[in-house]
Amino acid sequence: MHEKIVKMVAFGGSLRQGSYNRMLMEEFASMSPPGSTFRIAEISDLPLYNQDLDGDPGEAVSRFRAALSEADAILIVSPEYNYSIPGYLKNAIDCVSRPADSNPFRDKPVAIASCSTGMMGGSRAQYHLRQVLQYLEARTIPKPEVFVTYASEKFGVDGKLKDDRTKGNMKAMLDRLVASARDKA
Ligand SMILES: Cc1cc2nc3c(=O)[nH]c(=O)nc-3n(C[C@H](O)[C@H](O)[C@H](O)COP(=O)(O)O)c2cc1C
Repeated sequence: MHEKIVKMVAFGGSLRQGSYNRMLMEEFASMSPPGSTFRIAEISDLPLYNQDLDGDPGEAVSRFRAALSEADAILIVSPEYNYSIPGYLKNAIDCVSRPADSNPFRDKPVAIASCSTGMMGGSRAQYHLRQVLQYLEARTIPKPEVFVTYASEKFGVDGKLKDDRTKGNMKAMLDRLVASARDKA
């Protein structure tokens, strides 16, 4: 019997050129397990969330919501800003969280990874993000965890990750994400 193809969608990165988190997201894209697809959804064009526009949030929000809704599993890759989630990432999540009955995170497996140029690898932002996803009733994957510390030393000039241990954790994370989506199917 053929297993269902699991559709993964990733978002986050950072908005700047040369983002390590963007590089990490692209590294994940190259590791998609057999029987799965992987695409990146852009968030740089989303407007600031305004509850008055819930009925007609505009094309960019509708496109992002559709990408998440059609996915079987979600990966969020993000830097840490000031010990927390970057404002644009929280904004992207807020934009699609209402109306509540079309929240695309509910009951969906979600994995989180982060890169930081510091020694904590974005861990504080990850724990804040887990709290947000709790409210949205996502099935957040607890382990393996992917924290890329000292990111400026871990990527080559070609934008590829040089750290094999982290790559192993990333593969295990995607395997777990796909398995979690299949459990639900
Ligand atoms: C506004 C701002 C706040 C930051 N705050 C933190 C922080 O709280 N913890 C941390 O480890 N790094 C922090 N950094 C450093 C980031 O880890 C570093 O800039 C990283 O490269 C950002 O990810 P990116 O390469 O994907 O843009 C901060 C950077 C910026 C620009």
